[in-house]
Amino acid sequence: MLPADSSGVLAGGDDETAELFRGADEPGRAGAVQVLPRPLRIPARIVIAGVGAADEAGWRSAGAAAVRAVPVTEPLNILLPDGVAPDAVRGLAEGVWLAAYRFRDAVEGPRSVEVTLQTSTPGTYHASLAAARVTAAATWLARDLTNMPASVKNPVWFADQVVAEAATRPGVSVLVREPEQLRAEGFGGLLAVGGGSASPPRLVELSWRPERATRHIVLVGKGITFDTGGLSIKGRTGMALMKKDMGGAAAIIAATLAAADLNLPVRITALTPLAENMVSGSAYRPGDVITQWDGTTTETTNSDAEGRLVLADVLAFAVARLEPDVVIDLATLTGANAVALGKRTAALYTHDDALAQALEQAGAAAGERMWRLPLPEDYVEYLHSDIADRHSSPAMGAGSVVAALFLGEFLGDRVESWAHLDMSAPSWAEKHESDLVKGATGWGVRTLVRYLSA
Ligand code: BES
Ligand code: MN
Ligand code: ZN
Repeated sequence: MLPADSSGVLAGGDDETAELFRGADEPGRAGAVQVLPRPLRIPARIVIAGVGAADEAGWRSAGAAAVRAVPVTEPLNILLPDGVAPDAVRGLAEGVWLAAYRFRDAVEGPRSVEVTLQTSTPGTYHASLAAARVTAAATWLARDLTNMPASVKNPVWFADQVVAEAATRPGVSVLVREPEQLRAEGFGGLLAVGGGSASPPRLVELSWRPERATRHIVLVGKGITFDTGGLSIKGRTGMALMKKDMGGAAAIIAATLAAADLNLPVRITALTPLAENMVSGSAYRPGDVITQWDGTTTETTNSDAEGRLVLADVLAFAVARLEPDVVIDLATLTGANAVALGKRTAALYTHDDALAQALEQAGAAAGERMWRLPLPEDYVEYLHSDIADRHSSPAMGAGSVVAALFLGEFLGDRVESWAHLDMSAPSWAEKHESDLVKGATGWGVRTLVRYLSA
């Protein structure tokens, strides 16, 4: 019996629900919901949610649809049929939590979703629910950071958030480099891009270092807290959403914290170059030649190609100083990501087939889509510059590919162990969509948590 004034969700396929399903409009389609009129003797709203093929993705859609079907003020009771697989319950719980996200709650509070799972075998699901909770909480954090207006979210503010999150977790440490130190160490790309803003740049280095670790994974995330395009200024529509240009940084920070929360036996260093790409008398100019961290020079014809300059410094630093086994960067790097693949799919680049497969599998399990695009060796010549070692933004089409090739130049002998995810397109949702809430999606957190857990 359901408690008074609660909503019941029957998700699944036992006899009773199967009977109810026969009357549903679209029986069983993943994410289809039907809200039954309140039956007389049951003081609850009843929602039937379809789970499709009853795999993790189907249950995730059902969870998201169910939580949307009831008012936020009402507690949700989910009646689980017997024999549902632990993975499916992970999907269900992630779907519920991800779809229940509201940015306003982060600012105004309180933030609570009351969900009860009713099952005859609770012990079966503890690990799944723990993984789902950590993954969803990390995704919420990435969404909070990305949805935050850029007037608040300058590089210093972002770095402070990371310091505060790290402070609550044993085994996690953080180092923040300020401009003076960036200058002393030669982060020329980051200083050039950040030079036009009244809010100076930062480099955040977050570490999770468990004793049992056998691998060291370096994660790099683009952290442009606002991208005006600089002097090569964007148009009004192109600039409107550019507070999201730190979505890569948000995702790798959140995923690293999640790895600590799950006590994963893998060493992680997360590096986020943070800068605001602004228009001012101290902004870098089209045609400037900048010296990157590795000492090579870049001709910057278009100040709107800023992401690759800040990432180049950090990638070169990572391979020279951190002895990584794998380097993965996430970046809202190009509008061309959406041109090639549309709004929900990131572009994956790597020379390493095994790494590609591992990331693709992690993304598929997590419900985040990516598609591998090539890194053609013979396109590298387009990066040629007459006055510097290379050119930041050649006009040859294939913008996402060219940006990836530019980054690859800074990986040195680790280039084979590197993957780049251009996640410009899937970093934002125009409307509520299954487990996504309108606004920042936190794309990448779920994929990285799965990848790091494998
Ligand atoms: N942050 C943008 C890319 C972007 C565009 C992300 C739309 C999300 C949505 C990036 O810094 C940029 O401006 N890229 C340029 C590169 C060009 C100047 C070579 C682009 O894509 O137009
Ligand atoms: Mn730009
Ligand atoms: Zn940008």
